[in-house]
Amino acid sequence: MKPSTHIVWGLMLMAGFSGTAGAQAVVAPPHPAADKKPPAVDMAVDPTATIPPAATHFMGREISQTMHYTGAPWLVRESRQREEDCRLLLESLAIRPGQTVCDMGCGNGFYTVELAKRVGPRGLVYAVDVQPEMLRMLAHRLADEGIANVRPVLGTAVDPRLPRGAVDIVLCVDVYHEFSHPEEMLARIRESLKDGGQLVLAEFRGEDPAVPIKPLHKMTKAQVRAELEPAGFGLAREFDRLPWQHLLFFEARPAAAPGIQPGLSAPPNSQ
Ligand SMILES: C[S@@+](CC[C@H](N)C(=O)[O-])C[C@H]1O[C@@H](n2cnc3c(N)ncnc32)[C@H](O)[C@@H]1O
Repeated sequence: MKPSTHIVWGLMLMAGFSGTAGAQAVVAPPHPAADKKPPAVDMAVDPTATIPPAATHFMGREISQTMHYTGAPWLVRESRQREEDCRLLLESLAIRPGQTVCDMGCGNGFYTVELAKRVGPRGLVYAVDVQPEMLRMLAHRLADEGIANVRPVLGTAVDPRLPRGAVDIVLCVDVYHEFSHPEEMLARIRESLKDGGQLVLAEFRGEDPAVPIKPLHKMTKAQVRAELEPAGFGLAREFDRLPWQHLLFFEARPAAAPGIQPGLSAPPNSQ
């Protein structure tokens, strides 16, 4: 990869990148820490499973293409802490040692590494992504840092391949808006949560023109709720102090009956 590639990808995210479909194949360079043995990536995706064609829109929202792995250096850019206050995001999760957490759409592991430190040696982090190249970069980072409590897992567009009822927190940072099959992903995430477990979404604020990200990669709070509540998630907590993102905490609740808008009671003639 040319040294400037990550800068180009960052600019594309902020000014409208074309996603995987428009990207040229780039071979990931050998990692400097290639002598350290990275953890195995669980690649055991069922090769016979069929994945329905991806929708272009979901509930009136255009679905963004997946951020290509050649843009991964942008995810670990020096300015990210200043721009997004990632430490505050992590603190607001209130993770406890020993918990099981999933970094859904982990990319090259910017958050995975921090989550692993917070759950500690008795805890576990599932790091899931649909791009094997991202998971390989993550595995090398884990080897570099001597982190042993992370399981990198290759997911599919419809299945993150998480165990059922096993996860305390599923964290999606700048990921949900990329799900090509949101309904299927939400159903599998819901099944993976322990009783009282939470799905936490960080999404760039769609209502805020001052957030310098293309609209396709932003979401409004109302849109997030409109998509998650029919899938059986209720908003439990909001954290509104991040510079660019919403941080929304959802818990599994009974799914809304068809035709009833989340947050509204049933129309009088429906009983
Ligand atoms: C913008 S990156 C964010 C990476 C990471 N969360 C971070 O904040 O550094 C979005 C990531 O989500 C992944 N992704 C998209 N759809 C996914 C899905 N259905 N399941 C798992 N990962 C997915 C992409 O491959 C990409 O690595």
